[in-house]
Amino acid sequence: MIQQWDAQTYDAPRRRLVPCFEDFYGTAAELVARIAPSHPRLLELGCGTGLLSEQVVRRVQPGRLVLLDGSTDMLAVASQRLAAWSPETVAADFAGELPAGPFDVIMSSLAIHHLEDDAKQRLFARVFTRLAPGGLFVNAEQVLHPTQDGQKLFEQVHLGAAQALGSSDAEIDAAVERMRADRCATTEAQCGWLEAAGFQHVAVYYQWFRFAVLAGVKLPKRDVNELDSCPLMPGGYQ
Ligand SMILES: C[S@@+](CC[C@H](N)C(=O)[O-])C[C@H]1O[C@@H](n2cnc3c(N)ncnc32)[C@H](O)[C@@H]1O
Repeated sequence: MIQQWDAQTYDAPRRRLVPCFEDFYGTAAELVARIAPSHPRLLELGCGTGLLSEQVVRRVQPGRLVLLDGSTDMLAVASQRLAAWSPETVAADFAGELPAGPFDVIMSSLAIHHLEDDAKQRLFARVFTRLAPGGLFVNAEQVLHPTQDGQKLFEQVHLGAAQALGSSDAEIDAAVERMRADRCATTEAQCGWLEAAGFQHVAVYYQWFRFAVLAGVKLPKRDVNELDSCPLMPGGYQ
């Protein structure tokens, strides 16, 4: 697992380095608010300092909040930020066993792209097993463009916007250096892997160049004699 971040200095440049910060995290939180049941059981993978969970708990009151990260320093900051929601913290590698569920929502931001593609696919399958029926997986991620020219555009737009927001050359150089270790995948590949893991309603719900929010739902098994409710369709399946 990669340890590239200083938990104490992580937050300050975030809104410069993620120029679409509000919409990016906001879309993930919006999906949770619209789809999760009341008092959802939440698990965040690679929570870092807790920026995503913070956006989510502004919108929903969790019944359980589990924060997982490989870095105890990051977990300490996240734990403090989210203290009002009594989070459970788990210092672990999300490439391994996940905390026992079931969860109504499993979410992640800017973390899963650190895994190789085969490990991402195995993770998506494990996430599916940890979700309750009707559960939501939302992954706010840094993604790869399918073509080299498109990828150059992603990079130019991202770094240009960071600079325009006040990132220094040193800040940009450090971000570029960190991103060398990234193992980003295209949205197309990731949507396919989510569907292969069993998710439905899989889509890219938001994208600004290299920043995308992907999500899928674990639909409950339908009993033909019951009117099951579908989390994406008010009124259920009818
Ligand atoms: C770029 S930070 C993102 C943090 C936060 N989710 C955010 O949006 O600001 C990536 C986080 O994922 C964690 N991480 C990376 N790979 C991991 C792994 N395999 N298992 C657990 N945590 C991991 C790192 O420790 C770090 O806190």
